[in-house]
Amino acid sequence: MSALADRPANPVVGLRAVHESAALHVTGAAMYTDDLAAHTAGVLTAWPVQSTNAHARVTVDVAPAYDVPGVVRVLTADDVPGINDAGIKHDEPLFPSEAMFYGHALVWVLGETQEAARLGAEAVKVDYEALPSYITVSEAIAAESYQGIARTVERGDAAAALAGAPRVFEGVTEFGGQEHFYLETHASLAILDSEGQYFVQCSTQHPSETQEIVAHVLGISSSQVTVQSLRMGGAFGGKEMQPHGFAAIAALGAKLTGRPVRLRLNRTQDITMTGKRHPFQISWKAGFTEDGLIQALDATLTADGGWSIDLSEPVLGRALCHIDNAYWIPNVHAYGRIAKTNKTSQTAFRGFGGPQGVFLIEDILGRVAPVLGIDPAEIRRKNMYRPGQSTPYGQLVKDADRLEAIWQRLVDESDFDERRAEIAAFNAASVDTKRALAITPVKFGISFNFAAFNQAGALVHVYKDGSVLINHGGTEMGQGLHTKMLQVAATALGLRLDQVRLAPTRTDKVPNTSATAASSGADLNGGAVKNACEQIRERMAKVAGRLLGVDERDVRFEGGLITGLGKFDESLTFAEVANAAYLQRVQLWAAGYYRTEGLHWNPDLMKGSPFKYFAYGCAATEVEVDGFTGAYRVRRVDIVHDVGDSLSPMLDIGQIEGAYVQGVGWLTLEELRWDETDGPNRGRLLTQSASTYKLPSFSEMPEEFNVRLFENAREDGAVYGSKAVGEPPFMLAFSAREAIREAVGEFAPAGHSVELGSPATPEAVYWAIEAARSAGSASVAATSPAADASAEHDPTGASAGSAPAGADVPALATTEA
Ligand code: MTE
Ligand code: MOS
Repeated sequence: MSALADRPANPVVGLRAVHESAALHVTGAAMYTDDLAAHTAGVLTAWPVQSTNAHARVTVDVAPAYDVPGVVRVLTADDVPGINDAGIKHDEPLFPSEAMFYGHALVWVLGETQEAARLGAEAVKVDYEALPSYITVSEAIAAESYQGIARTVERGDAAAALAGAPRVFEGVTEFGGQEHFYLETHASLAILDSEGQYFVQCSTQHPSETQEIVAHVLGISSSQVTVQSLRMGGAFGGKEMQPHGFAAIAALGAKLTGRPVRLRLNRTQDITMTGKRHPFQISWKAGFTEDGLIQALDATLTADGGWSIDLSEPVLGRALCHIDNAYWIPNVHAYGRIAKTNKTSQTAFRGFGGPQGVFLIEDILGRVAPVLGIDPAEIRRKNMYRPGQSTPYGQLVKDADRLEAIWQRLVDESDFDERRAEIAAFNAASVDTKRALAITPVKFGISFNFAAFNQAGALVHVYKDGSVLINHGGTEMGQGLHTKMLQVAATALGLRLDQVRLAPTRTDKVPNTSATAASSGADLNGGAVKNACEQIRERMAKVAGRLLGVDERDVRFEGGLITGLGKFDESLTFAEVANAAYLQRVQLWAAGYYRTEGLHWNPDLMKGSPFKYFAYGCAATEVEVDGFTGAYRVRRVDIVHDVGDSLSPMLDIGQIEGAYVQGVGWLTLEELRWDETDGPNRGRLLTQSASTYKLPSFSEMPEEFNVRLFENAREDGAVYGSKAVGEPPFMLAFSAREAIREAVGEFAPAGHSVELGSPATPEAVYWAIEAARSAGSASVAATSPAADASAEHDPTGASAGSAPAGADVPALATTEA
């Protein structure tokens, strides 16, 4: 068997393959969960009754629903034969007696039609006995409302290093969450067959866990439930944990009525019921040398987990493991905790806490650079990891020299220095419009912190006619995983891409799978597919060797033909050998398995080497900011990103572009607002649709967008030398936020620290410009430690951009050691 990273001659991996469903996507022929439901005879529709109170004990009277024509059944807690819970942590009652957030589904109505189900749900009577609620992180902190386990990452002695640091800065950084806004909302279809077997088609990233939850709700075994995830119309982490309850509702409905049940949330239901990226509030203190080397970081991170724990603990863990981003910080004390609030239960979202950790250090560097009088690009570059250094949790930063190499390549290819000079000239001549070009690096750890998830399975069939069908445990959400798996199988079996087919992901084909998440879908499932194919190829090589009269080790599989070394005039087709193997009773299918070796992690100490490797990248973003309105546009983006030796360059570039834009959306546009007043709508999500929740659209695309892959980057530990790509480039978007900050700084005298609200909407940018323009005195204070040693930083000023952040007080409190 060949080494994991080795590629044969003329591999199919590395080719610019088109997404396997591209034609179906663009013609509208691709089937999604609810399309299958629409083709299911006798299907009932499920509709939720949602709480209109942020926190209350509820009494539900479902009787009136039965007066509505077409209502078949109302599902309540009394109907649950197994466990009334939608999660694996058992803190999410499927039918709650206590509404935990505004929008919480209390009971579900099944109707002959969607209209009947909806009207039935409207007829249900709910009595609320209101309980105290916490909507903001600050409220939760004040009330000490926490959940889950708090964690600390520690290295060296941060307190002592801060006490001895020549320059010390402190502040509070607060930023919001993000709605996944996948195009396909949550959807499930459950069918009970005559043998008592449940088939659940679900838009889920984690079919095995969906299966587990359906089984425990119904009080049956996992073997009685098959979950299929055909494809998802986007997921972005939002379908890692959150689909389970919806699948369970559909399955329970099928059990009680004997009829198929479909459940598809409309946009408003999806956005008001399901979890989002975690907002964070972080208070911090950072020590620097005079020339800008970071010496210490002390931070308390509070993640807003929402009403239940969901994935908040691992998300917090990843945030704590990414507060260094790409920088060497010798002394670290980072304490993380999870607030419990009466909002949707926040969950995985591309980066999985990583972006929240990276936010802090990029925010700090962007804020202190002007005060220290150092170019922000320079302060970043000089603090980047060097070979031999390790992360605060103790993992060696493997291939750390790639950071500098990628940075330099980006500087060269983006004409960074020339454009910086042009921009300086532009700004000198332009009073009301300012430009800036910022560069930021990314280092992102690949593997699940939870070690058991780092395994995968596959099932590969070779039929007598030589055709191949592969199954694997990963799910397709648009990222191109299935295409990559086809490329891996074709490479491992020496076939053309069109000779391999792929079957939908199902729990009865590959069991006990992990979520397709943590960007590791291709690493893990690719390892398993490759392993299965290699077993089959080895058996076929024996057969072919006999037919060709060569040693089995000298048999070559390439382009659908099988040849023997030294006998290249003679060849057999893959089909001929497959047929011969069948006749000789040689097994032509195999189960493949892969697990990532060499990981170790102590979650209590937050120490170890949890990641197989790091993905690296750098981005340079140029923006132009309008001094009157705060409006800005992204003029040009250049990215150099490390995907190892790419499995599929076109897909990887698409992932990098998409992740960057989604990151820019989070950092500059997308703003979730909840009603924080004490009125009847307290806790209601105010931004419930695309009209109030601003997503990046065509008009926000960079005017020039250059994405390049870092070449000759073979990663020895991963399948065919590739690296994961799904999440890391999301954090390249910090270059856009930092460019906006630098452009705003152009409206102030030198040395002004720009505090930028998050998201950096035009409104937030406007206030930052106002502060910059009137900053003459404030910036002097900020550079004069003695003057503002006691300056209090207003945490609320940093949050929503609705207040003139930093206008009244210096943005940064600096203290003399
Ligand atoms: N790309 C598309 N088009 N749609 C998605 O939902 N999810 C992202 C990323 N890219 C997503 C996507 C997230 S959050 C992850 S973890 C990875 O894809 C998961 O897939 P992978 O492990 O195969 O990269
Ligand atoms: Mo991605 S947030 O790990 O699904």
